Amino acid sequence: MAEVVIVPDERAGGRLAAARIARLVTAKPDAVLGLATGATPLSTWAALAEYGLDLSRVRGFALDEYVGLPAGHPESYREVLMRTVVKPLGLSPDLVHVPGDDGGDIATAGQRYEEAIRAAGGVDLQVLGIGRTGHIGFNEPGSSLASLTRVKTLTEQTRRDNARFFASLDEVPRHCITQGLGTILRARELLLLAWGEAKAEALAAAVEGPVTASLPASAIQLHPEVTVIVDEAAASRLRFADYYRYAWENRPDWARDEDLPSSVTGA
Ligand code: PGA
Repeated sequence: MAEVVIVPDERAGGRLAAARIARLVTAKPDAVLGLATGATPLSTWAALAEYGLDLSRVRGFALDEYVGLPAGHPESYREVLMRTVVKPLGLSPDLVHVPGDDGGDIATAGQRYEEAIRAAGGVDLQVLGIGRTGHIGFNEPGSSLASLTRVKTLTEQTRRDNARFFASLDEVPRHCITQGLGTILRARELLLLAWGEAKAEALAAAVEGPVTASLPASAIQLHPEVTVIVDEAAASRLRFADYYRYAWENRPDWARDEDLPSSVTGA
């Protein structure tokens, strides 16, 4: 079962997620991070920036990207990652990859992306948000649990959810290229974050429901190293919330330093 940590709010969750990442990067300065876009990880990036770590050797692989936006479009995930992660955290732009950004044929971009991840030694830690459809990355319901990076069609729900970033719904692309569920499951560790009531249903299904392609995030149940960090609102539909709280409060001493920044930086 995934380790589920229920935190009071998004900021506290971001601090906890950042502590995990900081610990990894301190041990492995050229760690490979799987980067989620969207609003969810922003508190994590903000908390991570406060460590002041040198992240210039960290390598990054984005989860997904729209297909069909003009190069340099401010809402392309490459640009969003540059703005929200790469620049503020001091990552090296050349070390951050986004599916489909190598200028080659989009139809075969997925295979090249898989190869690039493999060549980097695989993803050490994959940060994930969850969509209201239960997607992770842009793996919408019906995605094969073994899927690899490929071009997909977005659901209307996801397009509507993301329309807030565009001038109109019409501008939201219909296609995307995303790491598959199989790609995500190859990462050594998964960190799934969710804030707010709107995510509660999908989150509960992902963590406690059956593993099914109909709820792609449920694929995380197949992974041996998963931490789910949720605020109270996103946790509101979890059946075993009391147990998760109990387990976290009574976590063994050797696991207690997760949320203590000083233990990460050695300060
Ligand atoms: P959000 O998106 O972080 O903007 O809520 C998550 C997702 O759709 O995967």
